[in-house]
Amino acid sequence: MKRACVIGWPVAHSRSPLIHNYWLKKYGIAGAYTKEALRPEAIAGFLKSLDAHGFVGCNVTVPHKEAAFAAADVKEDSALAVSAANTLWLDGGKLHAANTDTYGFMTHLGLSAPGWNTHKGPVAILGAGGAARAIIFGFLEAGVEEIRVFNRTRARAEALALQFGPRIKVGDWAERAGASRDACVLVNTTSIGMGGQGTLNIDFEHFDPACVVSDIVYVPLETELLARAQTRGLRTVDGLGMLLHQAVPGFEKWFGVRPEVTEELRNLLVADIAGG
Ligand SMILES: NC(=O)c1ccc[n+]([C@@H]2O[C@H](COP(=O)([O-])OP(=O)(O)OC[C@H]3O[C@@H](n4cnc5c(N)ncnc54)[C@H](OP(=O)(O)O)[C@@H]3O)[C@@H](O)[C@H]2O)c1
Repeated sequence: MKRACVIGWPVAHSRSPLIHNYWLKKYGIAGAYTKEALRPEAIAGFLKSLDAHGFVGCNVTVPHKEAAFAAADVKEDSALAVSAANTLWLDGGKLHAANTDTYGFMTHLGLSAPGWNTHKGPVAILGAGGAARAIIFGFLEAGVEEIRVFNRTRARAEALALQFGPRIKVGDWAERAGASRDACVLVNTTSIGMGGQGTLNIDFEHFDPACVVSDIVYVPLETELLARAQTRGLRTVDGLGMLLHQAVPGFEKWFGVRPEVTEELRNLLVADIAGG
């Protein structure tokens, strides 16, 4: 029986088991997917002997994504671009690493807001952490000419501009609304709005009516940012679809079936989020 898991510290909050165990059941695969709580000092040893622990691979959550990247023998471009990995698998005795957040975000955006780049406008990114890096990489790969990054700590946004090159333009945090009005997509990658805490204070006045507003926070499912954008009639994209789609490549690597993100699976997660 093939086994995979999610590693983190803490890991109890992870919804990955819900997703992967749904797919194992749906496709009739005799496999298992569990949560493994691992302290930072235990990561290197655990990943070196993933096989001996009985796993074919794993997902990686906070705070182990950088350590997982460092431990891998083979790193896909998606992981190299963000120097962090959220998906690991064994192949030919080697540990492979990918960062599937890029795939998850871009796939969900494409499905939920088709034509998001029709008017070729700039993209606005709020935040400059790990998730921002993965998403910026996705927009660069998609051919976006200009990506404006606004972060509370400006130096972190500048570091992204250095890493990703001249298509990244850094703005002050205070300019995040005024300087995003002509954007084709605005994405919140900060943790503001998580658990209903904090506000980004953007009312979307004078925004291009074609602007798509995306929030990668998915608890609550409808964040204050998305609610405000909807009030102005803008198209919105929630964070749950990113979580669901980022799980697809890992499941395929471990269990050999490319799984489908269905309405039934989404509803399972929605009910879990509503239940706290
Ligand atoms: N939907 C999904 O599948 C998915 C995937 C990955 C992450 N996420 C969510 O995305 C969020 C960010 O994750 P991450 O891994 O990128 O975290 P991270 O690396 O810790 O980055 C956090 C970002 O939020 C900003 N921030 C935090 N508190 C702030 C505040 N009070 N005011 C202004 N900015 C603030 C930080 O700004 P500074 O640099 O100034 O500190 C930084 O840009 C989390 O809520 C996470 O759960 C969702």
